[in-house]
Amino acid sequence: MYTAQMKELIKKVEATRSERLGVQFERMTPQEKEEVLQENHPDYKEENFRELRLGKNKGDKVPLELADLIEAKSRLENINIDLSKTNYDVDVLIIGGGGAGTAAALEATKKGAKVLLATKLRFGDANTIMAEGGIQAADKPEDSPAKHYIDVMGGGHFTNIPELVEALVKDAPEVIKWLNDFGVMFDKENDGRMITTHGGGTSIKRMHAAADYTGAEIMRVLRDEAINRDIEVVEFSPAVELLLDDEGKAAGAVLYNLETEEYLIAKAKTVILATGGAGRLHYQGFPTSNHYGATADGLVLGYRAGAKLIFADTIQYHPTGVAYPPQIFGALVTEKVRSIGATPLNIDGEQFVYHLETRDVEASAIIRECQIRKKGIKTPSGVEGVWLDTPLIDMLHGEGTLEKRVPGMLRMYQKFGIDMRKEPILVYPTLHYQNGGILINEHGETNVENLYVAGETSGGVHGNNRLMGNSLLDILVFGRRAGAHAGEKSKNIKVTGLSLEHINTYHKSLEENNIKTQRVAPMLLPQYTHRR
Ligand code: FUM
Repeated sequence: MYTAQMKELIKKVEATRSERLGVQFERMTPQEKEEVLQENHPDYKEENFRELRLGKNKGDKVPLELADLIEAKSRLENINIDLSKTNYDVDVLIIGGGGAGTAAALEATKKGAKVLLATKLRFGDANTIMAEGGIQAADKPEDSPAKHYIDVMGGGHFTNIPELVEALVKDAPEVIKWLNDFGVMFDKENDGRMITTHGGGTSIKRMHAAADYTGAEIMRVLRDEAINRDIEVVEFSPAVELLLDDEGKAAGAVLYNLETEEYLIAKAKTVILATGGAGRLHYQGFPTSNHYGATADGLVLGYRAGAKLIFADTIQYHPTGVAYPPQIFGALVTEKVRSIGATPLNIDGEQFVYHLETRDVEASAIIRECQIRKKGIKTPSGVEGVWLDTPLIDMLHGEGTLEKRVPGMLRMYQKFGIDMRKEPILVYPTLHYQNGGILINEHGETNVENLYVAGETSGGVHGNNRLMGNSLLDILVFGRRAGAHAGEKSKNIKVTGLSLEHINTYHKSLEENNIKTQRVAPMLLPQYTHRR
């Protein structure tokens, strides 16, 4: 429910609505984009980054919160682990039970591999189920993977690794077919054709969606498929350290059962890290749209084992997180809301940015409007935001459109007495995605032999800015590729010895670099309570 003061401000939005209707706001020039980014994007705030003091990326800058975790000690420092007693012995160990891990499991079993999927929370509790707006794929006659490629590269400011983008866009149509055949309920026209929309930075409508719960729908189907195929899953058991063999190749992981507090040894010929993102580190104090488990665990584990990071200093702030009401502060307002016509407005009811600029540019423009131009709207809790004029959606496309296309959003706001069909909503950027991660090749392989990474833990595909809908695509393309490759490769691997020696080496390196820390990592779960 809006306060009387906020309702008064909404009158300014209503006053300008008819003159804005159907008028396209001008897009920024490349120079204007560069300026708004440099002056406002959180990635350009140097004081919030620092250089790593050890490991493969020594000297590279990462966010302060991530640097502290990477330079922390192992949870196993003072724990005696008997590596001769293995609890699991498999071909492919997958760490992470979201979309990337599950896609990997399905493809690895297709190769005949014995798979174990270990997940920190429940199977399927991951950022995948938080993904709302859609998944990109060039599968319409007027589109092509080449056009998709150009959009992805443009979105990433041409910093992306070309081979990874090529893999992403080429596999995309096959991924949509794969999902559709499994039974994902994509939005379709009456004649069965997929409904597709624009996302920020797309030149063609190629966003496929299942209303505004696309990720949850995909996860529902993938998890069912994994259960149907009897893939072994161990829940509430995050990996706390990778295991290497005598030659420094990945050979499994130490899992920690959160319920029984036991350590479990999983020996494996190949390991796939698919632990997701880092939103719960709340970089620069931002709220997050991320799942509870998004604590950068994979980056910590992989880095200690010698994996190289790329673009770890580039973070995605989704332009439209909830600014009001406070109970859902930071939750995602899907980009789909803008792609079907809602536009951002300032306190005077004026549009100040084209509604579908790439996310980094759109978010920066919103930050500028509030912090520099002082044209934001202050909420009762003191947080500022800008209006997103959602009633435009039904005005543009007919009554019932908003309810049909973004029903989850509508319900979320209705719970707090706000009807998006009649009133605008208040939004501000929220920490959404880790653009970078562990460097992979087109098979998902890392520089550590037999260690693969898929999904948000990996880096290189999106360069320093991802476009909407390429994350669900990324987890499936590279989850499938990593699973298939690891499954095949494990046929020719014999694990010789298990070791945690790399942890001792890491601890020595902390000392040699004069790094004093009490912190242990991976974090596993965010801490929201005050400790005595
Ligand atoms: O806005 C959204 O629905 C988010 C999509 C994405 O990050 O790809």
